[in-house]
Amino acid sequence: MSKPTPSEIRSLSTLCIGRSLWLFDQIESTNTLALELGNDPANDGLAILAKAQSAGRGQYGRTWVSEPGSSVLLSVLLFPPEALRRTAVMTTWAAVAVGEVILGLTGLQAKIKWPNDVLVQGKKVCGILIEQRTTGNADFPLATVIGIGLNVTQTSQHFESARLPTAGSLFSISNKRLDSESVAEHLLHQLDEEYARLLEGDFNTLEAMWKWRLGLLGRQVIVETRTEKIAGRLMEVGFDGVYIEGDEGGLLHFEPERVLHLWEATR
Ligand code: BTN
Repeated sequence: MSKPTPSEIRSLSTLCIGRSLWLFDQIESTNTLALELGNDPANDGLAILAKAQSAGRGQYGRTWVSEPGSSVLLSVLLFPPEALRRTAVMTTWAAVAVGEVILGLTGLQAKIKWPNDVLVQGKKVCGILIEQRTTGNADFPLATVIGIGLNVTQTSQHFESARLPTAGSLFSISNKRLDSESVAEHLLHQLDEEYARLLEGDFNTLEAMWKWRLGLLGRQVIVETRTEKIAGRLMEVGFDGVYIEGDEGGLLHFEPERVLHLWEATR
């Protein structure tokens, strides 16, 4: 792909995320461009924001479709130090930041649906797509792209007619009229604040927020990995692992990256 030209370039007063912010009216996919720019560590912290995407990408090879201007369509490009390269850390960081911004702007509490959906009142308002590539640079071997699609202005009728009954937007849920660009700016500042905390080595704050927004500690859950589906009580969640007290007794440990899905068991 030949590199598209941003309609505007801005610089936020952040430590890292969005120091350089490229805005597009229309682009193929913010993630695709960010991945391409992942060959140059000088692009660390670059944020790419689009009003519309012609080939937005979602998880599991799905497409991500949104009406122009209706959503935050954002990708952040990072060359994180080793401790932050794990997808579990990156995903959680983004999902928690989205949750905090939603709380600040609407007063509503968002929940995280494992691994990386953000729900408000049971409706998915945000999806996150983490992609990584090698750089060939020994000092910065891995580029990580954090793609965030956050529905802002769509109406409930829009989701009904699009046959997306489980989707929502900040407007459809809170009735607050927010502007996607200013939501994006809040999000970039939030991401920056929490990234700085991670760079200082503080993972505990993020883990605590993650646990709270998952809302499943102590509950009967089902854990699904590539090879098994296990029921039990969720005893602990952290970057060290997901701990389940199995129905047969005994504590089972799963690396977070191995857990594809985690949901509350209905009795
Ligand atoms: C999901 O499937 O839930 C994840 C969706 C991620 C969509 C965002 S929109 C901005 C960025 N660019 C893309 O092409 N995808 C992500």
